[in-house]
Amino acid sequence: QEGLRTKRIGKNIYYFEEIDSTNDYGKIVAQKPFEDGDIIIAESQNKGRGRFSREWVSPMRKGAYLSILLKPQISFEKITRLTIITALAVCSALEDHIQKKVEIKWPNDILINQKKICGILTEISGEVDKINYVVIGIGININLDIEDFDESLATKASSLKIETGKIQNRKEIVQKILSIFDEYYDDFLNDENYESIIDEYRKKSYLIGRNVEVRIYNNDSIRARVLDIEKNGALKVELENGEIRDLLSGEVTLSTS
Ligand code: BTN
Repeated sequence: QEGLRTKRIGKNIYYFEEIDSTNDYGKIVAQKPFEDGDIIIAESQNKGRGRFSREWVSPMRKGAYLSILLKPQISFEKITRLTIITALAVCSALEDHIQKKVEIKWPNDILINQKKICGILTEISGEVDKINYVVIGIGININLDIEDFDESLATKASSLKIETGKIQNRKEIVQKILSIFDEYYDDFLNDENYESIIDEYRKKSYLIGRNVEVRIYNNDSIRARVLDIEKNGALKVELENGEIRDLLSGEVTLSTS
């Protein structure tokens, strides 16, 4: 908590040596009154979860595993903006910390040298026009070694330590992310600066201009070229047959081809 000069984020911090998943704990905290921006953070997770029910490797004191609990009074369609500001906050904080190029792979993977360093898992509870709470889980591979990843991950994932050759300060990184997020979240609540935030996101976007393979649920893969990120957070692609489509993050998985 010390060293955190924020307006909302981290008023209450739930800290654990070990936990199943900080996102799951966030959902428990949310059952009782909590403050906007409460944090759950752990040194390790036994059941760290990623998107599409994947596992998130969470070895003891090697990564950052945290969740931000929010209760914004907004409509569902604005939730994607939260993911956008989270990805951007992580990206800027890491770039600043290690002085290397850090990119965002839409919707919310953070890459260094084309390898995944961080993942974000946003979970929502509520109705279309009444959000109860949002849990934003952030997992960052900080000081993981290549042996920490199993074979299938080792080609796609990496850590700050592996990419920089140096052990990195986990606490400093988390503090930096939270203070940047705090500012973006303030703008988000006041409906300010969104244009410049989405522009910033575009600039850091790894996918724009690339060819991708889009797998829409229950469908075959289609090849497409990424044209842009839309203001609503959708990915604008051109399919092989020339058709232009907007893809929403929940619908697709992507692989670069
Ligand atoms: C992904 O890329 O698939 C998202 C990974 C999210 C991992 C973080 S670690 C902290 C929080 N708790 C979890 O169980 N998952 C998220």
